[in-house]
Amino acid sequence: MKLNTLFSPEKIGNVQIKNRIVRSATYTRKAEKYGIVGNTLIEFYDELAQGGTGLIISEFIGVDPSGTASAYQLRLDNDSFIPGQRKLVEAVHNYPEVKIAAQIAHTGRQGAHPKYPPVAPSPIPDKNTGLTPRELTKPEIEDLIQKFVATGRRAYESGYDMVQLHAAHGYFLSNFISPYTNRRSDNYGGTNENMARILTEIYDGIKDEVGKKFPVIIKLQTQDFVIGGLEPQQGLEIAKILVDKGFEAIEPSGGIGETQIGTKNAYPSRQIKSPEEENYVLPIVKELKPSMKNCKMILMGGIKNPISAEKFLKEGVTDFISLSRPLIYEPNLPNRWMTGDLKPAECRSCNSCYVTVFTGPVYCVVRRRLEKREQRKMK
Ligand SMILES: Cc1cc2nc3c(=O)[nH]c(=O)nc-3n(C[C@H](O)[C@H](O)[C@H](O)COP(=O)(O)O)c2cc1C
Repeated sequence: MKLNTLFSPEKIGNVQIKNRIVRSATYTRKAEKYGIVGNTLIEFYDELAQGGTGLIISEFIGVDPSGTASAYQLRLDNDSFIPGQRKLVEAVHNYPEVKIAAQIAHTGRQGAHPKYPPVAPSPIPDKNTGLTPRELTKPEIEDLIQKFVATGRRAYESGYDMVQLHAAHGYFLSNFISPYTNRRSDNYGGTNENMARILTEIYDGIKDEVGKKFPVIIKLQTQDFVIGGLEPQQGLEIAKILVDKGFEAIEPSGGIGETQIGTKNAYPSRQIKSPEEENYVLPIVKELKPSMKNCKMILMGGIKNPISAEKFLKEGVTDFISLSRPLIYEPNLPNRWMTGDLKPAECRSCNSCYVTVFTGPVYCVVRRRLEKREQRKMK
């Protein structure tokens, strides 16, 4: 079987992507201390770019020191980070036609930084961190919007092909679009338009700074999987507001830190025991796609099988597919599929990689174990 659609080019805005395979943003914890790009990180992205992915979405990059997950998370909150970021982008652009997006983020309600207490639209205690975030004032929200905009401008100046807002998984921007975490009565809460305002203002701000041609895409929370949280119907209505605004692509996701580990369909699901359970965001994607107009759909979550990916693309269910954990295990996966080895991704969605970033650089525990076994056999 030929994967004609999976390996055909497609555009996001007017940026041409050589195939339909996107690397979904993945925190590697491989930056040097205080968010600086170093050789370890560059080597990691070099390997990814070499592996055949069309568009690499970076790991989440901090817009402000108060919203970072660790000292080893990338930052772009002031201009001094630009030269390092340029080296990262150049390493990817060394491979013909490979594109890279900067994912920009603030940890918001889920921040657990020793120096900066967490902040959020509303002071709702977080059962996962045990902390209650401080409610932001309107001027503080406006200030953080400017920080997202300035980081978008710095991503552009670093040479990134586009920027992705991280508005999922219980982090700052997703806190605004959830009725569980946003109880505000000013113009950043209440109606769907108000809840989405922070996203549309950042979109406008980045476009005003760098011009309309630089695509602004979004990883979008569509379901929280907690009682009183964002449900798919409201998630879809918010997504439509963003389509109308002009966001060039949406990558729907769901689940927050408080979502019980193992909840089906919450990110990153480890309930994938059969091929039927792969592509776990598919129901929402199918509902949203007919309203997408010029906005491109990126289907994410549990994708392992190139034949089903080809089918979804061919049927117009999605424009792109994205992978996170499978590329940690096999950075060369797109090339493997392209050269005719259509075996599904080796990744077992066990989340062992997810656990590694709490204490050190990301790696696939299963792959490392197998490699060690091989080495022992060779001795
Ligand atoms: C180690 C690890 C780090 C992640 N870091 C991010 C991140 O920085 N930003 C983000 O939006 N999602 C992040 N995710 C979620 C993935 O992008 C993706 O949405 C999720 O793993 C489901 O896709 P998959 O089944 O292909 O892994 C991370 C996931 C893992 C396993």
